[in-house]
Amino acid sequence: MRWQIHHLDMVVSTNQTAHSFPVNSVIVAQQQSGGRGRYGRVWESPKGNLYLSVVVGDYEYQTPLLAFVAGVAVAEALSDYPVRLKWPNDVLLDGRKLAGILLERTDDGRTIVGIGVNVASNPTQGMLYETASLGGTVSVATVEANVLSALDMYLTQFETTGFAGIRDRWLHYAAGIGKEVTVRLPDRQLSGIFQEFSPEGALVLATSDKTILISAGDVFFK
Ligand code: BTN
Repeated sequence: MRWQIHHLDMVVSTNQTAHSFPVNSVIVAQQQSGGRGRYGRVWESPKGNLYLSVVVGDYEYQTPLLAFVAGVAVAEALSDYPVRLKWPNDVLLDGRKLAGILLERTDDGRTIVGIGVNVASNPTQGMLYETASLGGTVSVATVEANVLSALDMYLTQFETTGFAGIRDRWLHYAAGIGKEVTVRLPDRQLSGIFQEFSPEGALVLATSDKTILISAGDVFFK
């Protein structure tokens, strides 16, 4: 594997720590005091769950697609469980959020891929979505090893053959395609049918009067 892994006890956020590490570093922490979620939300981070951040390079205009590479890797790492992927990259167990992924860019063009998996426990209050955990049925170390090995494999596939194979794998795990969804954007909310996952990674939403390509947002199933 390509990774140089650093295990720490408590950090503010593994994503924040990872900003000062070179490409192919992985920061793993037992706890975070200021875990970050998407859109500036808090990611509750008690001991017992997996918190890791991987530093990768610059994939230019394809960098946002790393979120799907990571989503597929996490789904594959947890494929002993009936997991699904919710666009863009939430991992669901029984329709509830089990893992989240947060991409950040550094000033010098590296990319931080932050991954949180609810191995032992899940937050029950103040979340946008219902959450799930693996209930401690597997160790954090095992989930960490499986995620990092799958991420290494899917990154190599992405680098050598492009996004198409990742998209196919994502579709294998996809939840909600063909179903009615509501997508919450920063400034408005749209409802329609989740028609397709485009070759560029967009959610294709058919509303009552037009088809819209959405590149970021929170999806809710009806
Ligand atoms: C989401 O909102 O779904 C993304 C959550 C990402 C959480 C992980 S935990 C490890 C890494 N460090 C952080 O501060 N956040 C990410």
